[in-house]
Amino acid sequence: MSPSAAPDLPIAGVPTGHSKWTTERVLDVRYWTPAMLSFRTTRDDAFRFTPGHYARLGLAADDGSIVWRPFSMVSAATDHHLEFLAVLVPGGAFSSALARLRVGDSIQVERASFGFLTVDQLAAGRDLWLLASGTGLGPFVSILRDPSVWRAFERLIVVHSVRRSSELAYRTELTTLADEHLLVAGAARLLYLPVVTREQGATALASRIPRLIADGRLEEAAGRQLSVLASRLMICGNPELALTLRQVLGARGFATSRRGIPGQMAFEKYW
Ligand SMILES: Cc1cc2nc3c(=O)[nH]c(=O)nc-3n(C[C@H](O)[C@H](O)[C@H](O)COP(=O)(O)OP(=O)(O)OC[C@H]3O[C@@H](n4cnc5c(N)ncnc54)[C@H](O)[C@@H]3O)c2cc1C
Ligand SMILES: NC(=O)c1ccc[n+]([C@@H]2O[C@H](COP(=O)([O-])OP(=O)(O)OC[C@H]3O[C@@H](n4cnc5c(N)ncnc54)[C@H](OP(=O)(O)O)[C@@H]3O)[C@@H](O)[C@H]2O)c1
Repeated sequence: MSPSAAPDLPIAGVPTGHSKWTTERVLDVRYWTPAMLSFRTTRDDAFRFTPGHYARLGLAADDGSIVWRPFSMVSAATDHHLEFLAVLVPGGAFSSALARLRVGDSIQVERASFGFLTVDQLAAGRDLWLLASGTGLGPFVSILRDPSVWRAFERLIVVHSVRRSSELAYRTELTTLADEHLLVAGAARLLYLPVVTREQGATALASRIPRLIADGRLEEAAGRQLSVLASRLMICGNPELALTLRQVLGARGFATSRRGIPGQMAFEKYW
Protein backbone atom coordinates (compact mmCIF):
# COMPACT_ATOMS: atom_id res chain seq x y z
CA MET A 1 0.00 0.00 0.00
CA SER A 2 1.30 3.49 -0.81
CA PRO A 3 2.20 5.53 2.29
CA SER A 4 -0.42 8.14 1.28
CA ALA A 5 -3.27 5.64 0.82
CA ALA A 6 -6.22 5.79 3.21
CA PRO A 7 -5.83 3.17 5.96
CA ASP A 8 -8.67 0.92 4.85
CA LEU A 9 -6.88 -2.44 4.98
CA PRO A 10 -6.86 -4.68 8.06
CA ILE A 11 -4.06 -3.96 10.52
CA ALA A 12 -2.47 -6.78 12.49
CA GLY A 13 -3.69 -6.65 16.09
CA VAL A 14 -6.69 -4.42 15.36
CA PRO A 15 -9.97 -6.32 15.68
CA THR A 16 -12.08 -6.42 12.51
CA GLY A 17 -14.81 -3.79 12.67
CA HIS A 18 -12.59 -1.59 14.85
CA SER A 19 -11.64 1.66 13.05
CA LYS A 20 -8.08 1.76 11.72
CA TRP A 21 -7.45 5.17 13.21
CA THR A 22 -8.09 7.20 16.34
CA THR A 23 -9.23 10.81 16.53
CA GLU A 24 -6.73 12.93 18.45
CA ARG A 25 -6.73 16.57 19.56
CA VAL A 26 -4.12 19.17 18.61
CA LEU A 27 -2.28 20.32 21.75
CA ASP A 28 0.24 22.74 20.29
CA VAL A 29 1.28 24.31 16.97
CA ARG A 30 4.67 25.98 16.51
CA TYR A 31 5.73 27.72 13.30
CA TRP A 32 9.51 27.76 12.64
CA THR A 33 8.89 29.71 9.38
CA PRO A 34 5.66 30.57 7.54
CA ALA A 35 6.02 27.23 5.66
CA MET A 36 7.47 24.93 8.35
CA LEU A 37 5.76 23.91 11.58
CA SER A 38 5.78 21.40 14.40
CA PHE A 39 2.57 20.26 16.05
CA ARG A 40 1.66 18.06 18.98
CA THR A 41 -1.40 15.90 19.41
CA THR A 42 -2.85 13.67 22.07
CA ARG A 43 -1.77 10.02 21.77
CA ASP A 44 -3.93 6.94 22.02
CA ASP A 45 -2.74 4.75 24.91
CA ALA A 46 -2.41 1.76 22.57
CA PHE A 47 -0.39 3.59 19.86
CA ARG A 48 3.14 2.14 19.63
CA PHE A 49 6.08 3.05 17.43
CA THR A 50 9.83 2.68 17.16
CA PRO A 51 11.79 5.96 16.78
CA GLY A 52 12.18 6.53 13.02
CA HIS A 53 8.69 5.22 12.20
CA TYR A 54 5.93 7.14 10.48
CA ALA A 55 2.14 7.05 10.78
CA ARG A 56 -0.58 8.25 8.44
CA LEU A 57 -2.40 11.38 9.54
CA GLY A 58 -5.84 12.37 8.29
CA LEU A 59 -7.25 15.89 8.00
CA ALA A 60 -10.46 17.19 6.44
CA ALA A 61 -9.79 18.55 2.93
CA ASP A 62 -11.58 21.47 1.28
CA ASP A 63 -14.24 19.14 -0.19
CA GLY A 64 -14.95 17.54 3.19
CA SER A 65 -13.15 14.24 2.40
CA ILE A 66 -10.29 13.09 4.61
CA VAL A 67 -6.82 13.42 3.08
CA TRP A 68 -4.21 11.02 4.46
CA ARG A 69 -0.44 11.55 4.39
CA PRO A 70 2.47 9.79 6.11
CA PHE A 71 4.40 11.73 8.77
CA SER A 72 7.38 10.67 10.85
CA MET A 73 7.04 10.89 14.60
CA VAL A 74 9.37 13.45 16.17
CA SER A 75 8.34 12.70 19.74
CA ALA A 76 10.03 10.08 21.90
CA ALA A 77 8.44 6.63 21.91
CA THR A 78 7.73 7.15 25.62
CA ASP A 79 6.08 10.60 25.38
CA HIS A 80 2.39 10.85 26.22
CA HIS A 81 1.82 13.08 23.18
CA LEU A 82 2.77 12.75 19.50
CA GLU A 83 4.83 15.40 17.73
CA PHE A 84 5.36 16.00 14.01
CA LEU A 85 7.44 18.35 11.84
CA ALA A 86 5.87 19.45 8.55
CA VAL A 87 6.42 21.69 5.55
CA LEU A 88 3.52 23.45 3.83
CA VAL A 89 3.77 22.69 0.13
CA PRO A 90 1.98 25.33 -1.98
CA GLY A 91 -1.19 23.81 -3.46
CA GLY A 92 -0.76 20.47 -1.65
CA ALA A 93 -4.01 18.85 -0.49
CA PHE A 94 -2.74 17.96 2.99
CA SER A 95 -0.75 21.19 3.29
CA SER A 96 -3.88 23.30 2.69
CA ALA A 97 -5.68 21.52 5.52
CA LEU A 98 -2.59 21.64 7.76
CA ALA A 99 -2.25 25.40 7.27
CA ARG A 100 -5.66 25.78 8.96
CA LEU A 101 -4.75 23.59 11.94
CA ARG A 102 -5.30 25.20 15.35
CA VAL A 103 -4.97 24.03 18.96
CA GLY A 104 -8.09 22.05 19.93
CA ASP A 105 -8.77 20.79 16.37
CA SER A 106 -9.25 17.09 15.62
CA ILE A 107 -6.76 15.04 13.62
CA GLN A 108 -6.89 11.36 12.72
CA VAL A 109 -3.95 9.12 13.44
CA GLU A 110 -3.72 5.65 11.99
CA ARG A 111 -3.34 3.01 14.69
CA ALA A 112 -0.33 1.36 13.00
CA SER A 113 3.15 2.81 12.51
CA PHE A 114 5.55 1.84 9.73
CA GLY A 115 9.06 2.14 8.32
CA PHE A 116 12.59 0.83 8.13
CA LEU A 117 14.43 3.98 9.20
CA THR A 118 15.13 2.50 12.62
CA VAL A 119 18.41 1.84 14.38
CA ASP A 120 17.61 -1.88 14.66
CA GLN A 121 17.79 -2.12 10.85
CA LEU A 122 21.52 -1.43 11.00
CA ALA A 123 24.45 -3.63 11.90
CA ALA A 124 26.22 -2.59 15.10
CA GLY A 125 28.74 0.18 14.48
CA ARG A 126 30.78 2.92 16.11
CA ASP A 127 29.44 6.14 14.54
CA LEU A 128 25.85 6.91 13.56
CA TRP A 129 25.50 9.52 10.81
CA LEU A 130 22.01 11.03 10.55
CA LEU A 131 21.76 12.95 7.26
CA ALA A 132 18.58 14.99 6.75
CA SER A 133 17.19 17.54 4.32
CA GLY A 134 14.34 19.84 5.38
CA THR A 135 11.66 18.07 7.42
CA GLY A 136 13.65 14.82 7.10
CA LEU A 137 15.23 15.81 10.43
CA GLY A 138 12.03 14.81 12.28
CA PRO A 139 12.61 11.05 12.73
CA PHE A 140 16.19 11.73 13.81
CA VAL A 141 14.98 13.93 16.66
CA SER A 142 12.82 11.00 17.81
CA ILE A 143 15.82 8.66 17.54
CA LEU A 144 17.98 11.09 19.53
CA ARG A 145 15.29 11.36 22.20
CA ASP A 146 15.80 7.61 22.81
CA PRO A 147 18.46 7.05 25.52
CA SER A 148 19.44 3.66 24.05
CA VAL A 149 20.95 5.23 20.93
CA TRP A 150 23.35 7.21 23.12
CA ARG A 151 24.63 3.94 24.57
CA ALA A 152 24.80 2.06 21.25
CA PHE A 153 27.26 4.40 19.49
CA GLU A 154 30.42 6.35 20.28
CA ARG A 155 29.49 9.28 18.12
CA LEU A 156 26.22 10.63 16.75
CA ILE A 157 26.68 12.98 13.80
CA VAL A 158 23.61 14.97 12.74
CA VAL A 159 23.78 16.77 9.42
CA HIS A 160 20.76 18.96 8.63
CA SER A 161 20.62 20.56 5.18
CA VAL A 162 18.12 23.39 4.70
CA ARG A 163 17.71 26.30 2.33
CA ARG A 164 17.63 29.02 5.00
CA SER A 165 18.87 29.17 8.60
CA SER A 166 15.33 29.82 9.89
CA GLU A 167 14.56 26.22 8.82
CA LEU A 168 17.11 24.75 11.25
CA ALA A 169 14.31 23.35 13.40
CA TYR A 170 15.25 21.76 16.76
CA ARG A 171 18.70 23.40 16.60
CA THR A 172 18.55 24.50 20.24
CA GLU A 173 17.20 21.17 21.46
CA LEU A 174 19.91 19.21 19.65
CA THR A 175 22.57 21.39 21.21
CA THR A 176 20.97 20.94 24.64
CA LEU A 177 20.80 17.15 24.19
CA ALA A 178 24.48 17.14 23.29
CA ASP A 179 25.35 19.15 26.41
CA GLU A 180 23.27 16.90 28.67
CA HIS A 181 24.86 13.68 27.46
CA LEU A 182 28.36 15.12 27.60
CA LEU A 183 28.17 14.65 31.38
CA VAL A 184 27.03 11.00 31.22
CA ALA A 185 29.82 8.43 31.43
CA GLY A 186 29.93 6.14 28.40
CA ALA A 187 27.36 8.16 26.45
CA ALA A 188 27.91 8.99 22.79
CA ARG A 189 29.12 12.44 21.77
CA LEU A 190 26.75 14.30 19.50
CA LEU A 191 28.06 16.49 16.73
CA TYR A 192 25.50 18.77 15.10
CA LEU A 193 26.45 20.01 11.64
CA PRO A 194 23.88 22.41 10.13
CA VAL A 195 24.14 23.08 6.40
CA VAL A 196 22.40 26.19 5.03
CA THR A 197 22.55 26.18 1.23
CA ARG A 198 20.90 29.46 0.20
CA GLU A 199 22.17 32.02 2.72
CA GLN A 200 25.82 32.70 2.25
CA GLY A 201 27.87 32.65 5.45
CA ALA A 202 25.08 31.28 7.68
CA THR A 203 26.92 28.01 8.40
CA ALA A 204 30.47 26.79 7.93
CA LEU A 205 29.16 24.06 5.61
CA ALA A 206 27.05 25.45 2.77
CA SER A 207 27.11 22.92 -0.09
CA ARG A 208 24.69 20.05 -0.68
CA ILE A 209 25.49 16.92 1.34
CA PRO A 210 26.69 14.73 -1.59
CA ARG A 211 29.20 17.43 -2.55
CA LEU A 212 30.39 17.70 1.06
CA ILE A 213 30.97 13.94 1.09
CA ALA A 214 32.67 13.89 -2.31
CA ASP A 215 35.21 16.55 -1.41
CA GLY A 216 35.87 15.25 2.11
CA ARG A 217 34.58 18.35 3.93
CA LEU A 218 31.88 16.47 5.84
CA GLU A 219 34.33 13.93 7.23
CA GLU A 220 36.74 16.74 8.08
CA ALA A 221 34.01 18.68 9.93
CA ALA A 222 32.91 15.54 11.79
CA GLY A 223 36.45 14.50 12.65
CA ARG A 224 35.55 10.97 11.50
CA GLN A 225 36.07 9.02 8.30
CA LEU A 226 33.18 7.26 6.61
CA SER A 227 34.07 3.58 6.76
CA VAL A 228 32.00 0.44 6.15
CA LEU A 229 33.44 -1.07 9.34
CA ALA A 230 32.62 1.78 11.73
CA SER A 231 30.00 4.07 10.15
CA ARG A 232 26.25 3.59 10.00
CA LEU A 233 24.15 6.07 8.02
CA MET A 234 20.50 7.05 7.99
CA ILE A 235 19.27 9.39 5.27
CA CYS A 236 15.88 11.09 5.25
CA GLY A 237 14.07 13.71 3.17
CA ASN A 238 14.50 14.76 -0.46
CA PRO A 239 14.31 11.70 -2.80
CA GLU A 240 17.02 12.99 -5.15
CA LEU A 241 19.35 13.42 -2.20
CA ALA A 242 18.53 9.85 -1.13
CA LEU A 243 19.14 8.50 -4.62
CA THR A 244 22.48 10.29 -4.98
CA LEU A 245 23.67 9.15 -1.57
CA ARG A 246 22.60 5.58 -2.24
CA GLN A 247 24.86 5.62 -5.31
CA VAL A 248 27.75 7.48 -3.67
CA LEU A 249 27.76 5.30 -0.55
CA GLY A 250 27.03 2.12 -2.50
CA ALA A 251 30.17 2.79 -4.55
CA ARG A 252 32.10 2.96 -1.26
CA GLY A 253 30.79 -0.46 -0.17
CA PHE A 254 27.84 0.55 2.05
CA ALA A 255 24.68 -1.57 1.72
CA THR A 256 21.10 -1.43 2.94
CA SER A 257 19.65 -4.32 4.98
CA ARG A 258 18.62 -7.27 2.82
CA ARG A 259 16.76 -10.46 3.70
CA GLY A 260 17.40 -10.12 7.40
CA ILE A 261 21.09 -9.23 7.00
CA PRO A 262 21.61 -5.84 8.66
CA GLY A 263 23.33 -3.26 6.48
CA GLN A 264 25.24 -0.05 7.03
CA MET A 265 22.69 2.45 5.67
CA ALA A 266 18.92 3.09 5.72
CA PHE A 267 16.76 5.55 3.77
CA GLU A 268 13.38 7.27 3.97
CA LYS A 269 12.17 9.32 1.00
CA TYR A 270 9.42 11.88 1.64
CA TRP A 271 8.07 12.12 -1.91
C1 LIG B 1 7.23 7.74 4.59
C2 LIG B 1 6.96 9.23 4.51
C3 LIG B 1 7.09 10.02 5.64
C4 LIG B 1 6.84 11.39 5.56
N1 LIG B 1 7.03 12.18 6.66
C5 LIG B 1 6.90 13.52 6.55
C6 LIG B 1 7.17 14.38 7.66
O1 LIG B 1 7.50 13.93 8.75
N2 LIG B 1 7.03 15.72 7.48
C7 LIG B 1 6.64 16.25 6.27
O2 LIG B 1 6.54 17.48 6.15
N3 LIG B 1 6.36 15.48 5.23
C8 LIG B 1 6.47 14.13 5.34
N4 LIG B 1 6.18 13.35 4.27
C9 LIG B 1 5.54 13.99 3.10
C10 LIG B 1 4.05 14.16 3.43
O3 LIG B 1 3.44 12.89 3.56
C11 LIG B 1 3.29 14.94 2.35
O4 LIG B 1 3.68 14.57 1.08
C12 LIG B 1 3.50 16.43 2.52
O5 LIG B 1 2.92 16.85 3.75
C13 LIG B 1 2.79 17.24 1.42
O6 LIG B 1 1.47 16.78 1.28
P1 LIG B 1 0.49 17.55 0.30
O7 LIG B 1 -0.78 16.76 0.18
O8 LIG B 1 0.33 18.96 0.76
O9 LIG B 1 1.26 17.54 -1.08
P2 LIG B 1 1.69 16.26 -1.93
O10 LIG B 1 0.81 16.21 -3.12
O11 LIG B 1 1.75 15.03 -1.08
O12 LIG B 1 3.18 16.65 -2.33
C14 LIG B 1 3.43 17.60 -3.37
C15 LIG B 1 4.92 17.83 -3.52
O13 LIG B 1 5.43 18.51 -2.38
C16 LIG B 1 6.80 18.23 -2.18
N5 LIG B 1 6.96 17.70 -0.81
C17 LIG B 1 6.19 16.77 -0.17
N6 LIG B 1 6.62 16.54 1.10
C18 LIG B 1 7.66 17.37 1.29
C19 LIG B 1 8.52 17.60 2.38
N7 LIG B 1 8.38 16.96 3.55
N8 LIG B 1 9.50 18.52 2.25
C20 LIG B 1 9.66 19.17 1.07
N9 LIG B 1 8.88 18.99 -0.02
C21 LIG B 1 7.89 18.10 0.09
C22 LIG B 1 7.17 17.23 -3.26
O14 LIG B 1 7.71 17.93 -4.36
C23 LIG B 1 5.84 16.61 -3.61
O15 LIG B 1 5.81 16.04 -4.89
C24 LIG B 1 6.44 11.97 4.33
C25 LIG B 1 6.27 11.16 3.20
C26 LIG B 1 6.55 9.81 3.27
C27 LIG B 1 6.39 8.97 2.03
N1 LIG C 1 12.15 25.98 1.97
C1 LIG C 1 11.42 27.02 1.58
O1 LIG C 1 11.76 28.18 1.77
C2 LIG C 1 10.12 26.79 0.87
C3 LIG C 1 9.30 27.90 0.61
C4 LIG C 1 8.13 27.69 -0.06
C5 LIG C 1 7.79 26.43 -0.45
N2 LIG C 1 8.58 25.36 -0.20
C6 LIG C 1 8.16 24.05 -0.65
O2 LIG C 1 8.82 23.03 0.02
C7 LIG C 1 9.42 22.12 -0.90
C8 LIG C 1 10.89 22.01 -0.64
O3 LIG C 1 11.18 22.36 0.66
P1 LIG C 1 12.49 22.15 1.47
O4 LIG C 1 13.34 23.38 1.36
O5 LIG C 1 12.12 21.71 2.81
O6 LIG C 1 13.20 20.90 0.77
P2 LIG C 1 14.35 20.72 -0.29
O7 LIG C 1 14.07 21.43 -1.56
O8 LIG C 1 14.55 19.27 -0.36
O9 LIG C 1 15.64 21.45 0.37
C9 LIG C 1 16.17 21.11 1.63
C10 LIG C 1 17.67 20.99 1.53
O10 LIG C 1 18.02 19.89 0.69
C11 LIG C 1 18.91 20.32 -0.33
N3 LIG C 1 18.68 19.56 -1.55
C12 LIG C 1 17.62 19.70 -2.40
N4 LIG C 1 17.75 18.82 -3.43
C13 LIG C 1 18.90 18.14 -3.21
C14 LIG C 1 19.59 17.14 -3.93
N5 LIG C 1 19.10 16.64 -5.06
N6 LIG C 1 20.74 16.67 -3.44
C15 LIG C 1 21.24 17.17 -2.29
N7 LIG C 1 20.66 18.13 -1.57
C16 LIG C 1 19.48 18.62 -2.01
C17 LIG C 1 18.60 21.79 -0.51
O11 LIG C 1 19.69 22.41 -1.13
P3 LIG C 1 19.47 23.55 -2.26
O12 LIG C 1 19.17 24.81 -1.53
O13 LIG C 1 20.80 23.55 -2.98
O14 LIG C 1 18.34 23.13 -3.16
C18 LIG C 1 18.34 22.22 0.92
O15 LIG C 1 19.55 22.46 1.58
C19 LIG C 1 9.20 22.58 -2.27
O16 LIG C 1 8.45 21.58 -2.93
C20 LIG C 1 8.45 23.86 -2.11
O17 LIG C 1 7.19 23.72 -2.75
C21 LIG C 1 9.75 25.54 0.46
